[in-house]
Amino acid sequence: MPDEKTRNLPWWKRTTVYQIYPRSFKDSTGNGIGDIPGIITKLDYLQDLGVETIWFSPFFSSPQTDHGYDVSNYRDIAPEYGTMADCDRLIQEIHNRAMYVVFDMVLNHTSDQHPWFLESRLSRENPKRDWYIWRDGKKSGGRKPPNNWKSMVGGSGWHYDDVTDQWYWAQFLPFQPDLNYRNPDVKKEMFDTVRFWLNRGVDGFRLDIINTIFEDEQLQNNPFAWKLFPSEEDEKSLFQNKIFTINHPDNFAFVKELRSVMDEYSDPERFLVGEIAASFDTLKKYCGEEVDKNQTNGLHLVFLFQSLNANLNASTLRNIINKYEEYFNEPYTPTWVFSNHDQIRRISKLGNDLVKAKLNTTLQLTARGVPFIYYGEEIGMFNHRLPIKTAQDPVALRFRWYHQLLVNLLVRDGSFSLNRDDCRTPMQWNSSLNAGFCPADSKPWLPAGARYETINVEVEESESDSLLHCYRNLLRLRRNTPALHSGSMHVLEQPMNKKTLLTYERRHNRQVVQVWLNLSNKPVQTDDAKGKRSLLFSTLLDSKPLRATSIYLEPYQGIVLELREGDS
Ligand code: GLC
Repeated sequence: MPDEKTRNLPWWKRTTVYQIYPRSFKDSTGNGIGDIPGIITKLDYLQDLGVETIWFSPFFSSPQTDHGYDVSNYRDIAPEYGTMADCDRLIQEIHNRAMYVVFDMVLNHTSDQHPWFLESRLSRENPKRDWYIWRDGKKSGGRKPPNNWKSMVGGSGWHYDDVTDQWYWAQFLPFQPDLNYRNPDVKKEMFDTVRFWLNRGVDGFRLDIINTIFEDEQLQNNPFAWKLFPSEEDEKSLFQNKIFTINHPDNFAFVKELRSVMDEYSDPERFLVGEIAASFDTLKKYCGEEVDKNQTNGLHLVFLFQSLNANLNASTLRNIINKYEEYFNEPYTPTWVFSNHDQIRRISKLGNDLVKAKLNTTLQLTARGVPFIYYGEEIGMFNHRLPIKTAQDPVALRFRWYHQLLVNLLVRDGSFSLNRDDCRTPMQWNSSLNAGFCPADSKPWLPAGARYETINVEVEESESDSLLHCYRNLLRLRRNTPALHSGSMHVLEQPMNKKTLLTYERRHNRQVVQVWLNLSNKPVQTDDAKGKRSLLFSTLLDSKPLRATSIYLEPYQGIVLELREGDS
């Protein structure tokens, strides 16, 4: 049934998002670091690609120890990326192209070089002291951390500061002290910062580790848990059930308050998307309750990371879709993420196989929900295994000593890495040295990735069956097809081909579109095709999947078809 609720969805539910890691996109000065003027020269490319919203990893002032996720001034731009005037021009140029802008807000913590923290650590009486979380240590002379809380990246999250003989809390790395949101001044300042950017025209925010805003006020110890590695679905890792430091109940009220700040703005509506690892129930709680027709009162979107490591097989993906539809049916909206700046690029998890990458993106761009495309994903940039010795990523540096051991012991196929440099290599624009990211005689901050001579925008523009054209065609199709950007969705059961085929239907008013994905290495033929259908898209250009009374799919082929009126 066409779903009443899916009509006239707000723009942010229909949009497609492209993530830019500014350091790696386009260098306009020749210093080997990407910058805002460089990005501006590539906006036509993005418009032509067909993405509608651009999310920028942070380019605010920062010592860049975590490449921008350690902010030292939330209302200014890091000089290596440009000036405030460049930033205003970027927003304007994006809007001129009828596209939207999303910034990355790191609310949980600042850099330890932020003037607030520099002041805060000066004395216990400093007016900024309570902007961060300072506590006395335990045991003799307070030389033991206040409790057992571990940071997300391992080790105690408490760090001793001998200036005042106290410990500060940092959920991530030691140079990223957590702000204290129990102090109303902190909340006010950060909400005003959000307004500052909204007033400059920003259309939304990606919220960095937003599930770690609050910790237990009584500092209760986290209980033990039999689990070493973190996962997407709960708070357990490093042998701790982090109930007192991750997904604290006070976070839910906080995101609602933040939502009300966003709701002060309309025309266009603005949106929030949260980075959260949690169960589906908890994820949904962050989105709030349905308050009005088509509206919830929490985060507009949360990343659903279940897809990141999903095997490319029919039952896994069918289960994911069914879960997303169960938990995030209207007025909630799922998201589709396969890569980002912290993860191994999806194509490398698919054996760097282009046919599979096309199939994967057919799912991403035709399923109900907001797709997030990571720069370079559209040309099939590989994950690049870079030496840990020269790593720039602070997480890799922290794990330098165990890294090789873990890689050798656990996984030998390249599907595991703690070095996030591997997925942050420069965007591959052409075949010249440094892939057109920076001049050939410059030294890029990270080397260009594998096979950049053939995997790049210029080469793929000229090949009609390239991954780049596959993305373009799908993005265009999605934009022009209401059933795809705004329709309801349900899985079509395939009892005869359960293990090989994933099929689903999207409906909007009278439009009915079906997506057929062959997730096996053998051709599949179904004889139950009825009615008149027209082919809207195929991952394989020269194939003829629609036959008189059947559908025939090559191995790993995906198609999108429309049921003609009266035939549904
Ligand atoms: C998030 C970001 C990651 C960053 C961390 C600390 O997980 O995605 O890149 O290092 O938070 O801000």
